[in-house]
Amino acid sequence: MKTELLTADASSLQKAMDLLHSGEVVAIPTETVYGLAAVGLNPNAVKKVFSAKGRPSTDPLILHLPSADLKQAVQMGILSEKVPPEAFRLASAFWPGPLTMVLPRGPKVPDEVTAGLDTVALRYPAHPVAQQLLAMVGLPLAAPSANRFGRISPTDATSVMHELGGRIPLILDGGECTTGVESTVVSLVPSDPTILRPGMITFADIERVLGRAPQQKTKTLTPDQSMPAPGMLESHYAPQTPLFLTDQPISDIQPDMLFIHYHPPKSPLSSNQFVLSPQGDSATAARNLYRLLRQADARQGKAILMEPIPDSDEAPALRDRVQRASVGRATWSHGTWVLIRKNID
Ligand code: TXA
Ligand code: MG
Repeated sequence: MKTELLTADASSLQKAMDLLHSGEVVAIPTETVYGLAAVGLNPNAVKKVFSAKGRPSTDPLILHLPSADLKQAVQMGILSEKVPPEAFRLASAFWPGPLTMVLPRGPKVPDEVTAGLDTVALRYPAHPVAQQLLAMVGLPLAAPSANRFGRISPTDATSVMHELGGRIPLILDGGECTTGVESTVVSLVPSDPTILRPGMITFADIERVLGRAPQQKTKTLTPDQSMPAPGMLESHYAPQTPLFLTDQPISDIQPDMLFIHYHPPKSPLSSNQFVLSPQGDSATAARNLYRLLRQADARQGKAILMEPIPDSDEAPALRDRVQRASVGRATWSHGTWVLIRKNID
């Protein structure tokens, strides 16, 4: 299959809409990462998403809504009439934006989307291209990140082409993603709000809106255990060059390895060093994370080493992603980096 990569404009949006209405898949920009979209009420279209990604069908997908209006989602049969009241508060505080809510499912949602669960994950994205396309299609779009299963989520259209070129008909280019890591996933079912995947909408942000602290269930599972959510796989978002997390700031580099610093180092950068956050803020670190991992990966070194993520409200989201992408820890000892693989059984 030939994959077209088109700048998002009136004519490419029309083409995307036609493809989606005819049961095809299209890669689209969102503010977090690029998504691989299909009409979420069409089981055969949803199956194409799983096969293009090579994703196990036991992993549920997020439905992207055509508006922030939860009542409209109820009318469309996407959401159960029993909407938890806290969902309205979270939607009005954070939508459009990088928050996904797990809510009781409506009668129109196919099992292919939810992997047979009685809940459905919903979000209204902030990216103007995603919003425009959703409004044109007028239906929810099921969209996981537009990478092959287990690999790094793409944050620009060229990376989508590397991941899924030849497997999908169209990629809409809407520029670089501004958030850079996947949405926060919060479950409101059965009742206590629970963060299933940390993101740039933080624990403190959610606590502030709800007036109570959410629970956190970010325990990692190995692939052979039963799996409540794909983001909970132990190894996910991984580059092909093994990534090791260092236990201290990196002050010594070696020519055969790639180094990702958090803050700019004092001495000038050599070509195998990258900086996650030139100003030291976590929003920039998140925006740069997957792009720098891809750039480092493309250099085909022996290993990528990354500095610890400093504490901040957003640190859990960043640490979650780098831990999933990593295969172990690196320690500087006797004038060399010692790489220690973690046990994944
Ligand atoms: O930012 C994002 O969320 C991106 C963009 C494209 O919107 N999408 C994304 O989708 O990251 P994906 O498929 O890679 O991750 C979906 C996440 C899972 O990790 C899981 O935690 C959650 O959504 N999920 C979906 N349905 C669920 C359900 N019924 N119950 C619990 N978790 C669910
Ligand atoms: Mg993903």
